[in-house]
Amino acid sequence: MDSEITEDRGSAPTVVLGITGCIAAYKACELTRALVRDGVRVKAVMTEAATRFVGPLTLRTLTNEPVAASLWDDPATAPVHHISLAEEADVFLIAPCTANVLAKLATGRADDILTTTALATEAPLVIAPAMNVHMWRDEATQFNLRVLRDRGAIIVEPATGELACGDVGEGRLAELGDILDAVRAELGRVKDLAGVRMLVTAGPTYEPIDPVRFIGNRSSGKTGFYIAEEAARRGADVTLVTGPTHLRDPFGVHTVRVTTAVEMHAVAMEAYETAQVVVASAAVSDFRPAVPSAEKTKKEDAPSAVELVRNPDILAEMGAAKGERTLVGFAAETSEIVAHAREKLAAKSLDLVVANDVGVAGLGFASDRNVVTLVSGEGEKQLSEMSKRALAREICDWLGARQARR
Ligand code: PMT
Repeated sequence: MDSEITEDRGSAPTVVLGITGCIAAYKACELTRALVRDGVRVKAVMTEAATRFVGPLTLRTLTNEPVAASLWDDPATAPVHHISLAEEADVFLIAPCTANVLAKLATGRADDILTTTALATEAPLVIAPAMNVHMWRDEATQFNLRVLRDRGAIIVEPATGELACGDVGEGRLAELGDILDAVRAELGRVKDLAGVRMLVTAGPTYEPIDPVRFIGNRSSGKTGFYIAEEAARRGADVTLVTGPTHLRDPFGVHTVRVTTAVEMHAVAMEAYETAQVVVASAAVSDFRPAVPSAEKTKKEDAPSAVELVRNPDILAEMGAAKGERTLVGFAAETSEIVAHAREKLAAKSLDLVVANDVGVAGLGFASDRNVVTLVSGEGEKQLSEMSKRALAREICDWLGARQARR
């Protein structure tokens, strides 16, 4: 380690950037430049293998900070270097992260400066893996990723494309913009929802016609899951009630899975009793078959019509017993978006309606992106098209600002 060049960056946030031995290691230089341009203090930690792809001198020059590449640095300058680095980190970013280092992180193995620092830090861990497509798809790697996610690590998924080895598939280091977004989100995260008891509904509901058929919709649940996770990371005590989705439970969130609107109603109303904030992003089916068949209906017996009955309107019921709570609803519309959102705001006694045009191809339902207007008593705010993760941050920013005013 070099110790002679540390300059005082005052209260600048610190990103400890772990670099592992992979051809994408050179991209860590671009990441470093972008973070330094943001006013971030970057301290690089390299595995021995990483130093074969990019020289520590390059990182030292770009960061204007000493670079740690060995556990056995001069004890006179850094008595327990991995611990001091671990404590300095506001975010620990590992980019690129090889399959080998992922495995070490998942099992808590600490046999070099990077993995010992990662084990010792309490900072949020952002990991951007990069590897061959077959290594990425291997069950061992996927298992390690699950372990790390379950512990709260943020994984910036690799991109798909041509890989250095000539294969084509997933495994390429994610776009630098996506990695930077994840780091900036962690650096900017405030605990403005600390202690707030929050209920989030998400996903579709499935209303059975018979044991194999149902009425449903194309909601993926992503919007609600991201809101629940973002709120939990900001300190809220979150219960997520979700209809059927393929998504894994968000980190730090009490997740209850239901199928039908009637089940969602029962679970959500119970959680509502102690909730202070509700965000209803679920696409609840308004109707259900009056009498679902107990047996699978044979095609010869197909009914000419299915009689439907109304489902409970969960959010309307909550609005009628609102008390001091903050209620956020969604409005899925295909025309006169804001006008319909205003009607819902009033009819369900809401504080905010997130209005989205579900008629726009490629946005809203099932997509990773959305474009919405926030409609509240104070007015309207048209947001630009953004990822659902960014939308979750916007909604939590709104909730955080409201909590601060209370
Ligand atoms: O899950 P994703 O793929 O990420 O997609 C996100 C989304 C498109 C589902 C989401 O952005 C969205 O618009 N959710 C609400 C869809 C909807 O049901 O809108 P609505 O206009 O029918 O209902 C208005 C509000 O009342 C919603 O907050 C809804 O959760 C709630 N509601 C509706 C009916 C009902 N029976 N009970 C309810 O609580």
